[in-house]
Amino acid sequence: MAKRNIIKLGDEILRKQSKPVEVFDEKLWTLLDDMKETMYAIGGVGLAAVQVGILKRATVIDTGEPEEGGLMELINPVITKSEGSKTDREGCLSIPDREEKITRPETVWVSAQDRHGNKIEVSGSGYLARALCHEIDHMNGVLYIDKI
Ligand code: CO
Repeated sequence: MAKRNIIKLGDEILRKQSKPVEVFDEKLWTLLDDMKETMYAIGGVGLAAVQVGILKRATVIDTGEPEEGGLMELINPVITKSEGSKTDREGCLSIPDREEKITRPETVWVSAQDRHGNKIEVSGSGYLARALCHEIDHMNGVLYIDKI
């Protein structure tokens, strides 16, 4: 594994659409492993591939709450249902030293694939729902500051 550089606000790649992952190979697994190492090294709770310069629909999330599922690797995630709303503080590893209050769904349900291409379903409430929405937004070129 290796740490990768996190791309910061102002780089236009953060505004681009990420492409669906179609090949679930060692190159993808290395990317996911590197993303995990990078996220943990900086103390983040989520990182999307675009943030390390790779326009693929892949993210790693770990809210630090084992009861919320611990580490998640989500490939090609799609929100299939959302419920409620909650306003809370939010930040982004690509926008250092800044937090804003953002309204997100209280609960979301997500269909995705794991690193082998198997279909998986996850759901999350509160901070995990926030992280899921935030990382999926990254794949569509959307940043949380767009929602202030
Ligand atoms: Co972010």
